[in-house]
Parts: sequence; structure tokens; C-alpha cells
Amino acid sequence: MKDLRKHYTRGELLEENVPKCPFELFTIWFEEAISCPEIIEPNAMVLTTVNNMSAPDARIVLLKDLRDEEFVFYTNYQSHKGQQLEKNPNCTALLPWINLERQIIIRGSASKVSENESEAYFDSRPRSSKIGAWASTQSRNISSRQELEKQLKEFEIKFANIEPSKPPHWGGMAIAPLEFEFWQGRPNRMHDRLLYEKSSEGWILSRLQP
Ligand SMILES: Cc1cc2nc3c(=O)[nH]c(=O)nc-3n(C[C@H](O)[C@H](O)[C@H](O)COP(=O)(O)O)c2cc1C
Repeated sequence: MKDLRKHYTRGELLEENVPKCPFELFTIWFEEAISCPEIIEPNAMVLTTVNNMSAPDARIVLLKDLRDEEFVFYTNYQSHKGQQLEKNPNCTALLPWINLERQIIIRGSASKVSENESEAYFDSRPRSSKIGAWASTQSRNISSRQELEKQLKEFEIKFANIEPSKPPHWGGMAIAPLEFEFWQGRPNRMHDRLLYEKSSEGWILSRLQP
């Protein structure tokens, strides 16, 4: 591990070249991440929440929408993350585009999206994913893999002749950002870090030391 070392030379991030609005910069970087063949899941982000012991928790989720200045992902509301966000909506989402020598950290607050929005997205999913949402009580213990397969089979039979509707415990969460940090790797560990903070006058831009 000690000998693993990369030099970051792919780009720079300077105040004079960035838009005033962080959503615009997010969109530019997101499109570049989609176009980067080495990034296999450009919309994968590490979502950090706070558990009921005030300790941080983290996992990857897929970003599915950016609309009305909110970032939307979908999950089981009864999962650990779902319950944690219900109690404490503060969270961060980190997009680790290491192949571009970049990361974006979004700090904000999450709330459930409307049932209509969740249903519209659920209906667009492949049938197997829809059945999977019914078959897994996400984050709960299960005795074995076989038991999970059995649960799946039961729902495949149940939905054999009908299209699965959205389970009531499944849906979208929308993160409303309060801060964005854009990070671009630079040589000699002198990386660029630009911070956008939300204020009543709009977004305030500042630079952090690497
Ligand atoms: C690439 C990738 C994408 C994932 N996307 C999602 C997702 O969009 N929604 C989700 O609930 N879990 C997703 N997961 C699974 C979560 O990381 C996690 O295991 C699960 O949501 C349970 O988390 P929790 O117990 O902290 O609630 C994904 C995992 C990976 C590795």
C-alpha cells in the first residue's frame, strides 16, 4: 500500500473558469463522467447518513435524477438509510470520479419525493427490478441465501400475470444541497478544492486548501 502513488495531472479547477451556479458545474462534470469510458457507474455516489448512535453510516446509491435543484435516488424507506434519514435528514453524497481525478461532495438534507414521482420511476424499471423491490426487506437479517431465493420465487408467482406496482415502502429521496465541494487532483498534492455554500444572496464560492 505504501508504494501505491499516482500523480494527478488531468485538469485544473480555477475560479475564473467556473459558473456561479454549482448545479451548472455539476452538470458539466457529470457529462464528462458519462463520456469517460473508464467510469462504469458515473451516477454511483457514496451516501452518508447519521445513525441513532450519532455515528456516520455510508453506502453507495445510484443518482437517478437532478430536478428542481435536488438530487434524487431510490431506495427502501425501511432500510437502515431510510430510517436514518427519517430521523435525521442531514446527509452527504459523494461522487468519486477517480478516473477523472475528481470528486464532488454534496452536503444537504433529504426528504421523500412524492408518491407520483416514485411511481413514475418505479414503472419505468425492468420487471425483475420491480419484483426485487418486493422480494427484499432491505437491511433486515435473513437466515440464508436460499430463504432470499424463496422470497423472490413467491413474488415471481404472485406477479406472474400482473405488472408489479410500487411497494409502499419503496421510493425516492431528494437531497437539497446546502454545500458543494468540487475537487480536482493536481500535481504535488496541490489539489484544487472549490466550495459553494448556499446563502440568502445565492451561492458563495471559496477555495479550500488541499
Ligand atoms: C453500484 C451500487 C449501486 C447501488 N445502488 C443502490 C440504490 O440506488 N439504492 C439502494 O437502496 N441501494 C443501492 N445499492 C446498495 C447499497 O449500497 C446498500 O447495500 C443498500 O441500500 C442497503 O443500505 P443500508 O442498509 O445502509 O440502508 C447499491 C450498491 C452498489 C455497489
